[in-house]
Amino acid sequence: MHAATFQDSMNVPMKADSLPQSVVSAPPILAIKNLTVSFDGFKAVDDLSMSINEKELRVIIGPNGAGKTTLLDMICGKTKPTSGSIRFRDLELTRLPDFQIVRKGVGRKFQNPSIYEDLTVGENLEISIPQAHGVWASILFRRTRQVKERIGSIAEQIMLADHLRTKSGRLSHGQKQWLEIGMLLVQDPDLLLLDEPVAGMSPREREQTAELLKTIALGKSLVVIEHDMDFVKAIANTITVLHQGKLLSQGSVDQVQNDPRVIEVYLGH
Ligand SMILES: Nc1ncnc2c1ncn2[C@@H]1O[C@H](COP(=O)(O)OP(=O)(O)OP(=O)(O)O)[C@@H](O)[C@H]1O
Ligand SMILES: [Mg+2]
Repeated sequence: MHAATFQDSMNVPMKADSLPQSVVSAPPILAIKNLTVSFDGFKAVDDLSMSINEKELRVIIGPNGAGKTTLLDMICGKTKPTSGSIRFRDLELTRLPDFQIVRKGVGRKFQNPSIYEDLTVGENLEISIPQAHGVWASILFRRTRQVKERIGSIAEQIMLADHLRTKSGRLSHGQKQWLEIGMLLVQDPDLLLLDEPVAGMSPREREQTAELLKTIALGKSLVVIEHDMDFVKAIANTITVLHQGKLLSQGSVDQVQNDPRVIEVYLGH
């Protein structure tokens, strides 16, 4: 179990030069401490502490209503916590409005794809480019070759290079999910939050998405909420299990699957 990851990383002495390199653990990109949100007295997330490392791909699982989406809502500033802290590097996110959190490098994909169906794939990617200051600056900026190349390479990465001129409404459900991931990548966030990215996908699309997320995680941190255990096994190093707003279990796929508390929650009723 790695339930004490947050504590461990906080307790590491900062005298880096006096320690062998292997002992010095980098500070987490995201450190959540004692996070609670209460809706009319009901705690959807309840005193949760956990942390995510730089370039880590973390999967969060848990039964319906466990608080997974609510947790992402708090990280991206959509919901303000009742108490607790969310640190993204040296920033306290609970004090920032959602648009600032995006600008600071946190990208969020919601449970349902929110793309513009009447626009082409290329146009959807273009409008996701962070705004340059001023309307004219922004228009000129969008026309540069650099931008075109960047959109081309992201389209390639999300397996839609042959669909740049396709109206997004004509894409398969899976391709729409990829487009939305691409729209996040255009913003070049350091931390991506994905809520059920393979919902409604074919088995083949799920495999391709697993590869896509593993590639993204080479350069960014990812938090992925997912129910599909085959998919989870394909991508996860560490799994965090939430239940009733609390951290139930955390560890490798094997550790979590053999944890009696997890078995009880999934099979015990
Ligand atoms: N704005 C809100 N007001 C009141 N209750 C809420 C609100 N948002 C979430 N909840 C409640 O908090 C609990 C956690 O919901 P959440 O959507 O975070 O669960 P989840 O783990 O994402 O579930 P699922 O796997 O079904 O997506 C649920 O009981 C839900 O009804
Ligand atoms: Mg949810």
